[in-house]
Amino acid sequence: MDEREYRHDRARAEELLELAAGIAEEAGQMLLAKRPARPEVLATKSSPTDVVTALDRAAEELIRGRIAEARPRDAVLGEEGGDTPGEGGVRWVVDPIDGTVNFLYGLPDWAVSIGVEVDGEIVAGVVHNVPRGELFTASKGGGAWLRGERLRCNTGVPLAKALVATGFGYEAGRRRVQAEVLAQVVPQVRDIRRGGSCAIDLCSVAAGRVDAYYERGTNYWDHAAAGLVAVEAGARIGGLNGRPVSPDMALCAAPGLFEELHDLLVPLDPEHD
Ligand code: IPD
Ligand code: CA
Ligand code: CA
Repeated sequence: MDEREYRHDRARAEELLELAAGIAEEAGQMLLAKRPARPEVLATKSSPTDVVTALDRAAEELIRGRIAEARPRDAVLGEEGGDTPGEGGVRWVVDPIDGTVNFLYGLPDWAVSIGVEVDGEIVAGVVHNVPRGELFTASKGGGAWLRGERLRCNTGVPLAKALVATGFGYEAGRRRVQAEVLAQVVPQVRDIRRGGSCAIDLCSVAAGRVDAYYERGTNYWDHAAAGLVAVEAGARIGGLNGRPVSPDMALCAAPGLFEELHDLLVPLDPEHD
């Protein structure tokens, strides 16, 4: 890639990031304003504990509306509304509320997550932890930021001293396996955190608030934006045995710890049901 192409790509990523950040903040304000003391569960998805509230849907509609106004040709993949095709290679990947169970219970860790792909690659990502007023942003090649602060993940942390975030899926059978795997991980690390939002967990790796994260069963919209934040903060993200991150496994940590945690997980066969 020559200098002109590089500058063009960087400018486009920054422009998409600015738009995504504005939309995420607007959705966050709407959610804070409209969140009732105890939001009602509107429907369940993959299991009785996989819930959706009216505000998950309203937030996604707001986000889709703003994207359509600003960039009517773009495609959108949203957790609640599915895939809307577009033209021109730009696709928005939206989780309107990541951490819906926290949202439901009034716990302060849920986020609006918006990633933007160009030709299949995420080039801009925003994770807005609404209750805490934190806006994590990243653009490809432009670093990861928490408002004005440049983020760098922790480096040089051995597995035995690592604070590791993880999460559990919504299906009982899978959770049993996840708990069995966790029982083998806990004695090998400093401690475990289960925050309740994959996107915030990955941003926590980026910010050095945890050292590593792993989880089976996440979807693309959970980690699309936050994965870029983590990578731009120096972390590695992937699956097991050289595979890319997928619903089978998302693993994220600084190089070195990534491999140590990987090698602990592989013999535990965490991808079986
Ligand atoms: C969930 C959260 C949770 C993770 C689940 C996700 P949702 O997303 O990210 O931390 O453990 O795997 O499905 O349902 O709150 O959007
Ligand atoms: Ca999610
Ligand atoms: Ca969600």
